Amino acid sequence: MELNNDIDQFDIPLAKRTYQNKPNSTLIKKLLIFSPFLFLIFSVAALRFIRNLELIPLNNLKVQVERNHDARILGHLPYNETPKEKLVLIEPNIEVHIDMRDSLLKMREEAKKDGIYLVFLSGYRSINLQNDIFYSLKSIRNQEAAERARVSAPPGYSEHSTGFAIDIGDATQRETDFETDFENTDAFRWLIKNAPKFHFKLSFNKDNKYIDYEPWHWRYEGSIEALKVFESSNRKL
Ligand code: DAL
Ligand code: ZN
Repeated sequence: MELNNDIDQFDIPLAKRTYQNKPNSTLIKKLLIFSPFLFLIFSVAALRFIRNLELIPLNNLKVQVERNHDARILGHLPYNETPKEKLVLIEPNIEVHIDMRDSLLKMREEAKKDGIYLVFLSGYRSINLQNDIFYSLKSIRNQEAAERARVSAPPGYSEHSTGFAIDIGDATQRETDFETDFENTDAFRWLIKNAPKFHFKLSFNKDNKYIDYEPWHWRYEGSIEALKVFESSNRKL
């Protein structure tokens, strides 16, 4: 009764005052109850974020970037065009990086000794040529970029522009050139067994999410320059 009198006296509506106090205390109670869970969720999120970061060198500074945000376009990493002076012609229309010439020719010679005849289909490709291969064929074949990128790198994103990539066929089964069926040739079986001896590695395996399997496409990793070029690709993300 006294309370009501006070309320009347100060003209404060009881209902309004009660309504204002109640949710605040409920909220605090809820926060207290759920705080361990909130802390756990926050910690897990923070840990995942930190694990997703890596240090990259940038102009003498180490900068933290999100690991998955590399420079890929449609699954392809960027590659610079090798300067002309580092390229050598190994046969008509096939130029390669000078670092890889001897090893590549030796591999072909050793294969021949085993009765396997390797044929070189495509080596260095300029960014201009890659531009034509990507956009002209994309248009002729009426393909979207992502679809085209499954079989061809966008210009500036092809291993071929480095001079360290070589497409190889079997001279006795030319119908398998640039075909998945190349994996059933003696040449491919020989390469799988022997290519690492000559520092060659298959670039596009069956497990690649964005780029189709290319049993004919090999890259050279037998010099520091080549290893630097393919460092990002070899780093497990
Ligand atoms: N065919 C490979 C992906 C390239 O174009 O470099
Ligand atoms: Zn290739």
